Amino acid sequence: MAGAYDDRDGKIWMDGKLVDWRDANVHILTHGLHYASSVFEGERCYSGKIFKGHEHSLRLIESARLLDMTSPYTAEEIDAAKEAVLKANGFTDAYVRAVMWRGSGEDMGVSAARNPVRMAVAAWEWGNYYGDAKWQGAKLDIAKWKRPSPETIPTAAKAAGLYMICTMSKHAAEAKGCSDALFMDWEGYVAEATGANVFFVKDGEVHTPLADRFLNGITRQTIVQMLKDKGVVVHERRIKPEELDGFQECFLTGTAAEVTPVGQIGDWHFQVGQTTRDIAADYEKLVRA
Ligand SMILES: Cc1ncc(COP(=O)(O)O)c(C=O)c1O
Repeated sequence: MAGAYDDRDGKIWMDGKLVDWRDANVHILTHGLHYASSVFEGERCYSGKIFKGHEHSLRLIESARLLDMTSPYTAEEIDAAKEAVLKANGFTDAYVRAVMWRGSGEDMGVSAARNPVRMAVAAWEWGNYYGDAKWQGAKLDIAKWKRPSPETIPTAAKAAGLYMICTMSKHAAEAKGCSDALFMDWEGYVAEATGANVFFVKDGEVHTPLADRFLNGITRQTIVQMLKDKGVVVHERRIKPEELDGFQECFLTGTAAEVTPVGQIGDWHFQVGQTTRDIAADYEKLVRA
């Protein structure tokens, strides 16, 4: 066990320089801690190369913009920070976490214009997000919370505030012996899991919810393109929960989840079938190419 995340050896990049892991701290009156003015990225480095690292840097800047924060760094500078962290810690295969937030400053109310935007990058070794049972098919609960409307919150941002209901839903799922939870959106359509997008397979064709109301994952976009390149028909559309009855396979995609087969969602059961196995193997090859 590597131990608590704040008590490890190594280096973390913080506001432009590498600091000792245990010194990467913020003040208790940090705006982001009180009001969720914080955005982040999750990335994976495979054999020394971050998969779509630059796209993740661009998304971080865009998430910040959506929360009214101007990134103090360019995407190239963020790319360089991530490389520096991997090198300083001697990692070639690792999960990379970049985070940008409103720090402590003249403001401690809701408005935060006078507080600096700060940034850090950490990396750690992280295996299968759903544990060793990945290939048996994950068991998913159905979240009681709904993914909010884009008129309620900037749903395209990878922002801390959007994860509040993810944590609560995942706790409820784990208490029932499930490894994750599937969200419906505010209109009742199938949306996504707490940290991954969802796909279904029926008669060799793939169906996935339209990603115009939740995070359109970089892995999701990659998988859709890979399937299309293989000649698989992909339907990006609104999916009603009752349709889960007719799907044969289901899988999740995400940087942490990679391609994870789903065996069960609530009372619906799915096989870990060939379409899922093939696309998982193709993805595994691509990220290491
Ligand atoms: C809520 C949510 N949806 C989807 C995803 C998948 O996104 P990506 O494939 O860019 O990692 C993630 C993971 O980052 C997530 O947290």
